Amino acid sequence: KVIPAAAITIFGAKGDLTRRKLIPALYNLFIDNHLPSRFVIYCVDFLPMDEEVFKADLLDGINQFSRNGKADPVIWETFAQRIFYVQGDFLQAGTFTGLKEKLTAFDKANEQPGVRLFYFAVAPRFIEIISEALHKHKLCNKIALHRMIIEKPFGTDLTTARKLNRFLQERFDEKQVYRIDHYLGKETVQNIMAFRFANYVFEPLWNNKYIDHIQISVAEEVGVGKRGGYYDSSGALRDMIQNHLLQLLCVIAMECPAAYEAETIRDAKTRVLKSIRPYTNANVFKQVIRGQYTEGTVNNMPRPAYRNEEQVAADSNTETFVAAKLNIDNERWKGVPFFLRTGKSMPRQSSVIVIQFKDSPNKIFKDDIVPNRLIISIQPELEISLLFESKVPGLEMKLKPVEMDFMYQDAYSETLPEAYEALLIDALHGDATLFMRADQIEAAWKVVMPILDAWEKHRGKKLEFYPAGTWGPDACNSLLRPHATEWFSLP
Ligand code: BG6
Repeated sequence: KVIPAAAITIFGAKGDLTRRKLIPALYNLFIDNHLPSRFVIYCVDFLPMDEEVFKADLLDGINQFSRNGKADPVIWETFAQRIFYVQGDFLQAGTFTGLKEKLTAFDKANEQPGVRLFYFAVAPRFIEIISEALHKHKLCNKIALHRMIIEKPFGTDLTTARKLNRFLQERFDEKQVYRIDHYLGKETVQNIMAFRFANYVFEPLWNNKYIDHIQISVAEEVGVGKRGGYYDSSGALRDMIQNHLLQLLCVIAMECPAAYEAETIRDAKTRVLKSIRPYTNANVFKQVIRGQYTEGTVNNMPRPAYRNEEQVAADSNTETFVAAKLNIDNERWKGVPFFLRTGKSMPRQSSVIVIQFKDSPNKIFKDDIVPNRLIISIQPELEISLLFESKVPGLEMKLKPVEMDFMYQDAYSETLPEAYEALLIDALHGDATLFMRADQIEAAWKVVMPILDAWEKHRGKKLEFYPAGTWGPDACNSLLRPHATEWFSLP
């Protein structure tokens, strides 16, 4: 599909996201000829900045964070000519009237109307302010070509998310609002759809008759770093489980949609979220483990306790680790627990989904049989492998589990696009498949609300501590029983 022209406006141009993710992604799309021949990038932020200094900082960001390494000076020059720094206070009408003049002039110079994409890379308190101004000053009109990408966190609980949804829906069409969850843009996560729905061989096994349990684990090596201010009022449940991990769960558990198309896919995912059995006051503390890291060593480097991190309260009860058991009450999944785990300051980065099959009822061999296991590794390893029993060569019938492996690096020579590249191009093309719809985001909040409420009521109750550089509190293994004794991790 070809888009004639696009004006991309980034609010929060001086923020980390712009420098680390957005500009490197746009630059890579530019190199690969995915951006329209006519495009501009307006970068809006509060601080007065010399445009050249601003651009030099963006270039530095590309050189540090782009998957393609250092920028080519000639290509960068051409790309940078389309970038403009717009100094403006989000609270002042003048910011938006000035921007409107630029957008109108850009539109006038195009033969056909172009896309207007507004990216909200801002603190949550600015979302309503900026969207109201875009509406009031008619920068983002109620037409399909005018779109907004809203970063997470989308609300801090169900009430605030609902309120924000209503606010946006009163001013814009739902189809104009792209709520981002960058996990959905990851190549390996998109591939789960292909794996499940383009390979019929797995479908008959994908249910409670053959699957014992499922583990979804997103372990991070990083701590909270410089984000303590945000993180301390958020915590792992809001920061990771409500969005990324529940979305991974949806992709694994959803029914096959009628078409590869935004609405049917999002319907299928929302149905999963609505089928999750609600936690009760009585079981929250049994089924959800919360943890916080103490001082330790990660990758041979000392790591302070979470409570000693910058901008974190010295008596903080915020969780940096969550392990949760969930049940999905539908025909396919009744009786199959889903175990979700995420944490910071763990020994290494590792995002894996494990589909653990049931024991074979055939007991004809002397050796114990290890049940089959399908491992979908999302990052940093990019692979899918199936563990199965095999006869060890020799004169005896002796068994040993082996792995059948699909590794991206062996199968493909292409480098993988970053999640933000996939998502930005989709938004430019008006494809919302990988974005969150209003009802989907609310359904995800509904799942975690009983946990948030119970934790709020019993501050600090059963907060478990784990030294930085370990796989979380001991209690998280007992959560798995009797289905497993410990969480799976790649060697
Ligand atoms: C973000 C969270 O949404 O995802 C961060 O706010 C987290 O706390 C990050 O570190 C993880 O993303 P990725 O792509 O590095 O796994």
